[in-house]
Amino acid sequence: MDFKSLALKYKTPLYIYDFEHIKEQFESAKEAFQAKKSLICYAVKANSNLSVLRYLGKLGAGCDCVSIGEVKRALIAGISKYKIIFSGVGKEDNEIAYALRQNILMINVESEEELKRIETIAQYMKIRARISVRINPDVNAKTHPYISTGLKKNKFGVNIETAKKLYIYAKNSEWLEPVGIHCHIGSQILDIEPYKEATAIMAELVKNLKALDINLKFFDVGGGIGIRYKDEITIKPHDFAQAVLANLGESDATVICEFGRFLVGNSGYLLTQVLYEKKNGNKRFVVVDAAMNDLIRPGFYDAYHEIEAVNKTEQKSSTADVVGAICESSDFLGKNVLLPHLNHGDLLVVKGVGAYGFSMSSNYNTRKRCAEVAFVEGKPRLIRRRETFEDLIGCEVECLVRGNI
Ligand code: LLP
Repeated sequence: MDFKSLALKYKTPLYIYDFEHIKEQFESAKEAFQAKKSLICYAVKANSNLSVLRYLGKLGAGCDCVSIGEVKRALIAGISKYKIIFSGVGKEDNEIAYALRQNILMINVESEEELKRIETIAQYMKIRARISVRINPDVNAKTHPYISTGLKKNKFGVNIETAKKLYIYAKNSEWLEPVGIHCHIGSQILDIEPYKEATAIMAELVKNLKALDINLKFFDVGGGIGIRYKDEITIKPHDFAQAVLANLGESDATVICEFGRFLVGNSGYLLTQVLYEKKNGNKRFVVVDAAMNDLIRPGFYDAYHEIEAVNKTEQKSSTADVVGAICESSDFLGKNVLLPHLNHGDLLVVKGVGAYGFSMSSNYNTRKRCAEVAFVEGKPRLIRRRETFEDLIGCEVECLVRGNI
């Protein structure tokens, strides 16, 4: 990738995604499940750019959404409504109503109260709601505590006994149709064992429900497969599929996977320009034009992203913290990064930022969010223009103009 000309053409900071990589990842996931009916519902939260959704949709992906905003994105991007699922612990009434009206594939239910709420809304709308219950299997995904979701201390899903109760309730309701079972135990998972445990628990429940004449069509195992940021040994899609299928046995349910990071994480690069070098005592800092508002993962989870200088052949290197202009000490993109001497205008590229990069970016410090570019068939294409200052203040200016203050 010619980062220099991309910087000249689109300016920095800039997100760049290699769509060919996304395609390879999608195809490897699809192939792993080829022995069974399967659907990959891309986790929109990882990177919700409409062009990313459209591209994945064309490859055959559905979408896993956690807000009605994400459902709307998926629909606008052309994803078939029968491939859209709606998850999340706090769905609002208007969101549930919208999902029902759109007749999406199913709503993943996360509590007893929510199930009753969906029933009430469905009854009012005279629509039968297809639902799936999210199981909390109480297994340890052994990942960063902030992104672990399958332990009983986490807010997600319901335990097996409650789930069984909810399925029986749904079966007896005129307005609910139980069609699936769902589980998502966490993110950036590198160990296959917790998946084996969780899917065994799910499969056992599916069997027990069958005995009660509740036949589920969808077995949704969530997402979470980790990627290599540094030297991690990751789970191969084939091994993941084997673990799931071994537990599923003879069942003819369609397997759903909600991969996010696995599909897009390593497709992404954040291109940034050096503003200054500075030293505080012996500590070297490289100040760049990207900041924690563009990429919060290092500051928030202490996440590692490889950082490299573009077109620098110079051997002499020393370690530096790569930092942005924001007034927080957690505003760093990398710590102790080995880098050559850098001058104003030199380019650095931060890797592995395709997932939870732009989608977690903000306008903190009244900073404009980056432009995004897709690399498709060897050519760059703009998929989101850079924000303008006017974009940032628009919602407030309206109120000033109305004379509210
Ligand atoms: N399904 C559900 C219900 C989820 O909550 C998530 C992610 C996924 C699927 C996709 O997980 P993935 O395949 O991408 O691991 N911001 C954090 C990650 C948060 C993940 C939240 N849920 C990060 O930057 O590491």
